[in-house]
Amino acid sequence: MLIPLEEAIQLLLKPVCIAVPTETVYGLAACYDQEEAIEQIFALKGRPRNNPLIIHISDESDLHTLITTAPPGFRQLIDKFWPGPLTCVLPVQSHVSSLVRANLPTAAFRLPSLEITRELIARTGPLVMPSANLSGKPSSTLPEHIEHDFGQNFPILEGGCCIKGVESTIVIFQEGRWVVGRQGAVSLEDLAEVLGYLPSLLQKNSQGPSLCPGLLHRHYAPKAQLFLKSDDMAKVSHILGFHGRIYPKDKIIYEMGPLDRPEEVAGNLYRLLRKLDLDGVNKAWIDMDFPVTGLWRTLRERILRASEN
Ligand code: TXA
Ligand code: MG
Repeated sequence: MLIPLEEAIQLLLKPVCIAVPTETVYGLAACYDQEEAIEQIFALKGRPRNNPLIIHISDESDLHTLITTAPPGFRQLIDKFWPGPLTCVLPVQSHVSSLVRANLPTAAFRLPSLEITRELIARTGPLVMPSANLSGKPSSTLPEHIEHDFGQNFPILEGGCCIKGVESTIVIFQEGRWVVGRQGAVSLEDLAEVLGYLPSLLQKNSQGPSLCPGLLHRHYAPKAQLFLKSDDMAKVSHILGFHGRIYPKDKIIYEMGPLDRPEEVAGNLYRLLRKLDLDGVNKAWIDMDFPVTGLWRTLRERILRASEN
């Protein structure tokens, strides 16, 4: 159920959790210091409590009362990517609820670029927002995805569009360098332009306080079984493919977008993964013959995770 800004503010301050659009995907929002509403988020999503939340701010100055120090390179990163789809993991002040940060000494911060979301946060104060989906399922990029997961009456702030379609990129400062905890809408190449090096990916088995816990959990998966190897195309009747590419005539094609527009493909991916389930498709083949750099790298990772059993 779409609601206007004023009602969204009232609900959040009550405190109740609601869905909020961002430029990446929809979030399930609660005020960062309202434990009761944050508990609601974990319960609604079925989210493991060792998976911490991103704190969304409306202005860089919000950080003064939230973080202890800013690692080297932070200024350059936010000058380039904030507001926008970059999340930075930073040492956090101890008053920030351990529920938000899963007992870590750090928390993840993001300044979203969608105007209405920033206006909302400016009025409510910082909001925690995990993606608005049942844990393990594809993130929501349309209001109907939220209604599907949380019911027709679930309040959703109106007036925003998730133009990027994939989540923010998460960066963590570790042993003198920034590493990527989760690939996302900002590509490694974009980061390299600012950092002067191509950041490496945090390994799944990394230990210690900088671990990106979300890496450990099943993610982005529809009910449908996904096949990715070219030999497996014969096993399915449905294909997630590219506009302009020729596929066998007997297949039903869900077009992700053209090969020269990865942004468009990103914008469609979760919608199409969800559409497979809505249409009752139980097996699909995804065309993985696409470039390996830039945003394509994120898309490949999301598809691989979505296909894991
Ligand atoms: O684009 C996005 O980032 C969306 C929109 C709504 O802003 N939010 C989102 O949140 O994707 P969520 O909760 O689905 O993913 C947050 C990720 C998780 O993988 C979590 O483990 C990681 O951020 N994370 C949060 N706090 C962290 C911390 N202190 N250290 C390392 N990773 C952290
Ligand atoms: Mg998520």
